[in-house]
Formats: sequence, C-alpha cells, structure tokens
Amino acid sequence: MDYTTAKKYLNEIGQEQLLEYYGELTGEERELLLKDIESADFSVLKNIGRVSEPRGRIEPLKPLSLEEIRKNSDIFERAGLKLLSEGKVAAVLLAGGQGTRLGFDKPKGMYNIGVTRPLPIFGLHMRNMLGVAGRAGRAFPVFIMTSRANNDDTVGFFEENNYFGYPKNKIFFFVQDVAPACSTDGKVYLEKKYRVLTAPNGNGGWYKSLISCGLDRVLEREGVEWVNVCGVDNVLQSFCDPLFIGATVAGGYDCSAKIVRKELPGENVGLLCKVDGKPSVIEYYEMDEALKNERENGKLVYCNGITLNYLFSLKALKEVDCANFPYHLAKKKIAHIENGVEVHPSEPCGYKFETLVVDMVNAMKNCLPFEVERNKEFAPVKNAEGADSVETARALLKENGFEL
Ligand code: UTP
Repeated sequence: MDYTTAKKYLNEIGQEQLLEYYGELTGEERELLLKDIESADFSVLKNIGRVSEPRGRIEPLKPLSLEEIRKNSDIFERAGLKLLSEGKVAAVLLAGGQGTRLGFDKPKGMYNIGVTRPLPIFGLHMRNMLGVAGRAGRAFPVFIMTSRANNDDTVGFFEENNYFGYPKNKIFFFVQDVAPACSTDGKVYLEKKYRVLTAPNGNGGWYKSLISCGLDRVLEREGVEWVNVCGVDNVLQSFCDPLFIGATVAGGYDCSAKIVRKELPGENVGLLCKVDGKPSVIEYYEMDEALKNERENGKLVYCNGITLNYLFSLKALKEVDCANFPYHLAKKKIAHIENGVEVHPSEPCGYKFETLVVDMVNAMKNCLPFEVERNKEFAPVKNAEGADSVETARALLKENGFEL
C-alpha cells in the first residue's frame, strides 16, 4: 500500500491519526508503517458500542460433585489413563496474555513463584504434566500459545531449561493472532511513530491460530481426539487429569469444565450454567441479584465458578465456526504514542479486542461442570497484590506441600 492509498483509506475509516508522524519517518520506517496499516484488521473497531444481545433463559447446570467423582474415581481414572496411553489427548497451554495486572515485563509463565529457589510457573506446569505422562506411560503433545510479544522469550526459556525434562518433540509453540488496540473514542494507537499498536486477540483465538500455524496436522498425525485447554496463570493447574477426562468420556459429553464451587453471592467469577438450554458461561455482572443469591438446601444454585481448564472433543470443535467468535472489549492501561512521546497511563485508557475461550463453550451442545477442590487446584496469579496475587498463590502452593 502506498502513502496516497493509505491516507485515503484511513480518512474513510476515521483513522488518519496513524499517519501523524509520517513526515518525520525514514524510508524504512515509512514502509513498516504502511505494511502495518495494510495488515491491521480494523474491522474489530465495529465492536465498540455494540450492544450485546440479551441473554436468554438462564438455568442452573448441575455439576458432577466431588462426592460423585470420588464414588466413581476408579472407573473415571482408568478410562482417562486409557485415552492418555493411547495418545488421544493433548494439552493446550494459553500463554499469550500480556499480564498487565501483574506488571511483570516477561511472559507470566517465566514468573518465579519460588522464594528460596527458582520455581517458574512454566516449570510447575511441566512438572505436573510429566507426572500425568508418567502415570499414563506416554507423553502427550503440549501446544503452547504465545504472542508476538512474548514468543521469543517463551521459546528461549524452555530451551534454556531443557524443556523442564518434558520430551522436546512433544512440545509445539504457536503464535496467536493480534488485533489493533485503540483509545476509548475508537482511535487506533501507535506503538511507535511508525508502528500500529496491536495486542494479542484474546484466548478464544487459540484454535484458529493453531490451525493457521499448521499444527492441526500434528493433531491429526498424533491421533488426538481430546484437547485440554488451560490458562497459564493458575499455578495449581492440573493438566490432562485422568479423572476429568474419564468422567467426560464416560458421561458422553463433548466438552467439560473444571469448576470450583462458588460460596458467596458477591464473588466475581464467571459461572457455567445453561442459557436457553445450552451450556453457557455467564459473567458475574450479567447476573441479577435474585439469581446470584438463589439457594437450595443452603447452597448457592448458580455455583459453577470457572477455572480456565476445559476439555473439548476435537470432533465437536471442528463443527463450530471458530472464525466468527464475537470480540469483547477489554479496557486496559495501554502504553502508546501521544504528542510524539511514549506515555504509560496509570489508569485504563483504551480498548483491546479479545475473543474468549468461554465463547467456545457457549457453542458446544453440552458441557459437564466437573467440581474440583478450590484449595487444591485453583491458585490464579492475576494481580501484583491482594486477591489472586503472587502472595495468595504462594500460600496455596505451601498448603499443597510445595517447597518454595
Ligand atoms: P487474562 O484474561 O487474565 O489476561 O488471561 P492476561 O493478558 O494474561 O492478563 P491481564 O488481564 O493483562 O492482567 C487468562 C489466560 O488467557 C491467556 C493468558 O495467558 C492466561 O493464561 N491469554 C489471554 C492468551 O493466551 N491470549 C490472550 O490474548 C489473552
């Protein structure tokens, strides 16, 4: 795209500010900027001000309780280990996020959660996976989603650490797609005077990005039928849990989600329930007070708190139109160029556009909420301090016998 075409195009879509510094740029910088403008997906901007469709009829979705799981644990465990030993399960680790709330400038998985010794989050996850692979007698493929910004650091870190002892030929990195980010009035930011600012386009893009990187061929080659999709920031994340896999398969489900039981109505957690008869994750702000407080035998009726650990049947995923998931607006602090200099806002100032893995669950015919013990499996590291922080995660690791 040449300058005249870019200027005309940007004028038409109200984004002419992207050429503000064009006159100051070197030839090479101009080329980079024009390439960025050509490749940016400005269509995401139409999501600003989009009124989300009203949710339908919300109903509870009964979870498979800890008690029921315990009763059938032998059957579930055997079924799960069988699938793992046959090579039919793979893990997907979502590690493309920017971790802005934590304020750590490297990939979150590189964060050292240890106190007296190095204990990076990636190391904890790989140790957990090695344990399961050992029990199954076979290492499962692990697909790690990174972003443009953190891919080199992530891959380098795995190499430096000798893949944490996991077979290197079973680990596959792929880089997720990006979307431009903008101010709250819809003007796309510049990251540098000659670069359009883009950000990872959310964790819901994993399947589309995995395919566009050609890794669906690996899924085929390995004969994978189930994928366990997990977030990087839960340091007690349990990957490819045979019990979880076994329960999902034994129940004839296409999809399942590890959930922790919500105890207090005011807790801000997404909830797995049914909307118009289909599985759906409802955000806490989408629920009215009556639903939040509804109880049966003293327990909250809407209680399936999601933990970002899902199991999907690959066959069912193939039937879903993953290319057309809605974009959600995430209001964030976004460093950008303003009046010719880089600014680092202390408050959220603009929007990133993200697709969410929960929309994949919403697209499934069914989903089993599988209860896990909160203190054993849920220790998210989201914030620098307070709730869901390094401090709370360390306390939970200690409670579970980890030496920090
Ligand atoms: P979060 O929604 O907590 O986002 O990600 P984040 O970017 O890590 O952190 P903040 O909001 O900026 O503080 C939940 C999970 O989804 C992954 C993250 O790496 C984490 O495992 N994720 C998120 C992606 O893989 N890609 C994305 O674009 C966003």
